[in-house]
Formats: sequence, structure tokens, C-alpha cells
Amino acid sequence: MATTLITGGTVVSATGRAPADVLVDGEKIVAVLAPGSVLLGSDLTGTVDRVIDATGKYVIPGGIDAHTHMEMPFGGTFASDTFETGTRAAAWGGTTSIVDFVVQYPDQNILEQYGLWQEKAAGECAIDYGFHQILSDVQDSSLTAMDELISEGVTSFKLFTAYKGVFLSDDGQIFRAFQKGAQTGAMMMMHAENGSIIDVLQQQALEAGHTGPEWHALTRPWETEEEATHRVIMISRLTGAPLYVVHVSAKQAVQQIAAARDEGFNVFGETCPQYLYLSLEEQLAARSEEWGELEGAKWVCSTPVRSRHEGHQHAMWQSLRTNDIQMVSTDHCPFCMKDQKEMGRGNFAKIPNGIGSVEHRMDLMYQGVVDGFITLERWVEITSTTPARMFGMYGRKGVIQPGADADIVVYDPNGHTSIGLNETHHMNMDYSAWEGYEIDGHVDVVMSRGQVVVDETGYIGRKGHGRYIKRGLSQYLS
Ligand code: URP
Ligand code: ZN
Ligand code: ZN
Repeated sequence: MATTLITGGTVVSATGRAPADVLVDGEKIVAVLAPGSVLLGSDLTGTVDRVIDATGKYVIPGGIDAHTHMEMPFGGTFASDTFETGTRAAAWGGTTSIVDFVVQYPDQNILEQYGLWQEKAAGECAIDYGFHQILSDVQDSSLTAMDELISEGVTSFKLFTAYKGVFLSDDGQIFRAFQKGAQTGAMMMMHAENGSIIDVLQQQALEAGHTGPEWHALTRPWETEEEATHRVIMISRLTGAPLYVVHVSAKQAVQQIAAARDEGFNVFGETCPQYLYLSLEEQLAARSEEWGELEGAKWVCSTPVRSRHEGHQHAMWQSLRTNDIQMVSTDHCPFCMKDQKEMGRGNFAKIPNGIGSVEHRMDLMYQGVVDGFITLERWVEITSTTPARMFGMYGRKGVIQPGADADIVVYDPNGHTSIGLNETHHMNMDYSAWEGYEIDGHVDVVMSRGQVVVDETGYIGRKGHGRYIKRGLSQYLS
């Protein structure tokens, strides 16, 4: 087993920072030591195979992106990153674990779908991966499948109040699944938007001749997110199931989550970089020579990026500081412009929903530290430690301590990253939603279970190194 010493850096955790050396043996962290306490080559420590000099740099637990959609069949096409390309891009950006979604469309057999996703990912991934399960229709068999999946380490289930005829479950179906969540302790994840109202608004906008991508957001107003968030919180309260609201973008939805948390309920929320940085005015309404009105399709995702003038972005950053929102995932669901986003030319409702960001989350959130929105420790907490705790991986993932998997990132606060240029990112997309974003920091070294997968020469990992993470129940419940 190879040993690696990461020396000279500042180890940052969710609760503090300290100069320390980290000793890795095989796949595990075996010691966190006072700086310089390993005397290289001495009899005391034996031989260290590799030394990584982290002087002047941060040493942090590898990022965990708990919301990705590799190869997702959606919107009449497939998300353009495979498990191979998407996890490689994630590694480039300092993410060492993902939790992806197994998709079940109505009438599909849930356990068969789970088997299919295991097959898709096996032997393909550069980093470790787990699964959540999407439930689109809730039947008796779905409830027994939930038990089975929990024993397989799939301990979280996503349902939708939007996408009628595709994913939408009615309130009774959601209620039944939540009852099972309460019984088992499984985390119930909700896509919270009022899909029925959105369908009417979309139809009316199209009839009025509004076809451009900005109408994606204009037909999904914040009220539809607030209403659905309130509704699923009530279902969570009625049943006692823990609730995790995904991709929160509206200030008013955060207020609903905060109110439930203030009353002591196990209600949690995730936001994504797009809701912290991007807007209806600057992105969805953009026009370009190459794509004309379709340009804004690059940023079509649901929930939508919202108006800069309504205070949503400010509320998201604030909620990350106050822990009303607990973590940041990407909702990575990339589509190319060519042949994919293009499907929505002349009809915004046909643009496949999704943005690709899995490579950039650690950098984008680090910029939040530089800009004074969050602390260094909070950066580690919302990108790694809380995702590990929220989804039953903590101890193995999300922390630098003896016994944990050696998933480690050396991050240079004096480095610089120009993210998102199409020539320089590694996601399987023909554009970047983040082109032009400049980050005052740089991912220098990435280690996944003791293997260096990114260093100064670039990506040196391998397809198939990533292993399935059999998760436990959430460790975040109160
Ligand atoms: O636009 C999005 N979010 N696409 C992925 C599917 C989902 O709802 O998370
Ligand atoms: Zn969703
Ligand atoms: Zn998603």
C-alpha cells in the first residue's frame, strides 16, 4: 500500500483551520499530525512513497456533489455527460464523490431502473458515486421497493410536484411515499414547483407568441415555488418524514424552509451555484449572433434562475450563512446547444432543462469566500461535510480524520482559475454556462481514496477507479 504525506498546508474543516500534515496509507487517512512531525526517511515513520507539498495552500476534504444527472433521459434527449465524462470533469474541479439520480418514469419498475443505473456507472467512474432514487408514480410496489433500496444504500428518494405526465406525483402519492420515509428514516427530496399552474402559464405565453427562453422563468414565478415548498413542508410535518428541498431558488421558498426549521422540523434545503450567480436579465434574456434568441437556452433549468431585482440571490447567500439552506449541489444536468437545447427554438417549453456545473462548484463557492459571503470553514461545510452528513456518508467522506477515505483536495488561494471557457472545461458540452467567470483560487491536487487523480500535470486518474458508496441514513436529523 502506498503512503502519501501532504505536508505544509492548512487543514480546513467545517469547524476550524490549523496547520497540519496529513498521512495517507492506501485508501485511508491514517493520521493528522503537527506540521513537520513526520521525519522523512526516519525509522520512526518508515518510508513515505510520495510527498505533496501544500505550503501556503488549503487541505480540505474532497467535494461531494449530492445532485447530479449523468446520462439522464430527459426532455426528449439524454444529459450529455456520461458517468465517465461527468465524473472526470468533477475530479478536475475538486469533487471526489457524486450522488446521482436513478430515474423512474411512470410504470417503470423501480428496482429494474436501479439495476440499470448500477450497470451504467460500474467501471466508468473516476470518483466514488452513490444514488438517490426518483419516484414518479407511487404504487404499493414503490413502497416495498423503497425498503429494498434502503438496504442497498439508496436512502433518499426524490419526488416532483412539477412535470405533469413525466415526473409529477399528486399530493396523495407524495403523502404515501413520505409515510414510508417517516417509517424508515429515509430522506424525502422534493422538486417543489406547482406544475399544474406552470403548464397553464406556459400554454398562455406560447399562445400570446412568447417563445424565447426568458419565458421559461416568467412562466415559473416564485409563487409557484413558494406554494409547492409550503405544501411539501406540510406533508413532511403531517407524516414526520425528513424533507430535503432540492434546487431552491426563490427567497420566499427559503422563508418557508426557515420557518419550518425554526419550529424544529427536519426540513432542509439545497441551493446551486446558478441561483447564487445567474439571473433572468443577464442570462435567460441574452441574445447572441450565433444563437439569436436561443442564446438564453444555455441557462434554462428548473427551478429557473430568477430576476436579479427581487432579492433572490442575496437571500440565497444569506441563507447559506444562517444555515437556513444547508448545502450547495450543482443539479448538474448538461445539454449541448447543438441538437439538444436547439430543440427549443421557437418554443421555450421544449428546451431541455438543465445546466452543467459539476466541474466548477468548488471554485464558484470558493469565490464566495473571497467575496466575503461565506467563511472558509463554511465553504468546506456546504460543499463536503454537510452533504456527507445529510446523505449518510459522514466519517468515511466529508472530513479529514484518521479512518476516513483519503478524498483530499489541495486548494491554492493564491492560484487563479478562468472557468468555463469551452476549450478549457472538461464536461461533455459544446458551451459553458460559466464562460467568463474568474476565480481567485485553484484546485491543485485531487486525491480520491488515496490515489492522486489530478495534479500539476492535469488529470491522471482512471475510469473505473470510482466505487459505489453504500450510504446509511442521514446523520443530519435532529
Ligand atoms: O433543470 C433541471 N433541474 N434539470 C434536471 C432535473 C431536475 O429537476 O433536477
Ligand atoms: Zn428537480
Ligand atoms: Zn436535478
